Amino acid sequence: MAGTAQGIGNGSHRQAGADPVAKVEIANLSKIYTGSSGDVVALEQTNLSIFRNEFVCVVGPSGCGKTTLLNIIAGLESKSAGSVAVDGEEVKGPGKDRGVIFQQYALFPWKTVQKNVEFGLKLRGLGKQERREKAKTYIELVGLKDFAHAYPKELSGGMKQRVAIARAYAVQPDVLLMDEPFGALDAQTRAQLQEELLKTWAAEKKTCFFITHDVEEAVLLAQRVVIMSARPGRIKEIVPVDIPYPRDQATKLDERFIRIKNEIWSKVYKEYLEIAK
Ligand SMILES: Nc1ncnc2c1ncn2[C@@H]1O[C@H](COP(=O)(O)OP(=O)(O)OP(=O)(O)O)[C@@H](O)[C@H]1O
Ligand SMILES: [Mg+2]
Repeated sequence: MAGTAQGIGNGSHRQAGADPVAKVEIANLSKIYTGSSGDVVALEQTNLSIFRNEFVCVVGPSGCGKTTLLNIIAGLESKSAGSVAVDGEEVKGPGKDRGVIFQQYALFPWKTVQKNVEFGLKLRGLGKQERREKAKTYIELVGLKDFAHAYPKELSGGMKQRVAIARAYAVQPDVLLMDEPFGALDAQTRAQLQEELLKTWAAEKKTCFFITHDVEEAVLLAQRVVIMSARPGRIKEIVPVDIPYPRDQATKLDERFIRIKNEIWSKVYKEYLEIAK
């Protein structure tokens, strides 16, 4: 069932019903870091097409280059070779078409929830009234209506991450890049946020690139799961998740879900063994 990285560009492993237009096109991408202990090949010959409004999850062992790939798409990191294009335009730096959510919430501690969400809107030149209204809408969407005037220190981890999601959504980027956004949360909060993210995505489709260590999370969220291999980091395989949306925690009991999760897990586990050698 699973496609190889090479076969992706022609869309042969696209989910039925997904828009066939490639939103993000990664071609022959390589990244070499020159560090204190010599060169590190973080990514080698990476090819991936992410379709418009598609939800793609990325799994793979620690150090296989997941964050590097995300940062290059975000324009926060330079590449060594190859190309990354969004809507056919080569990525040269950060842009308002791409929003990023990190594992650590990255909120301004001195700003209220409302002001944190408004911040990106201000940068984009929106007027006061428009900022206020837009922020309010997205704060409500993530269930924080009663906390709009609270400061980050008054919020739980899950609530902070909801603010980060609201902030990213409020600026309405086409592409949402998420680096283990729920990694620091307890299992219950994580499950809740997974469902909220799915609902938000259903309400306002975006092209989502979501990194996680949790194979179950990847299968729950994604239309396709990208498995990366370590040393050098490259795309090993892409597994389509042919399970219809809406999905929720009950989906995890679905026989297809369990089969796909086990298939991906056994492949990722092989990679863990590889780096443990
Ligand atoms: N700024 C940097 N300078 C030098 N080497 C780096 C730098 N950032 C990452 N690396 C190296 O590149 C490789 C890939 O790192 P990256 O952070 O992309 O991995 P990852 O898959 O996100 O790992 P994790 O799952 O632990 O977050 C690693 O070997 C890492 O040591
Ligand atoms: Mg990482």
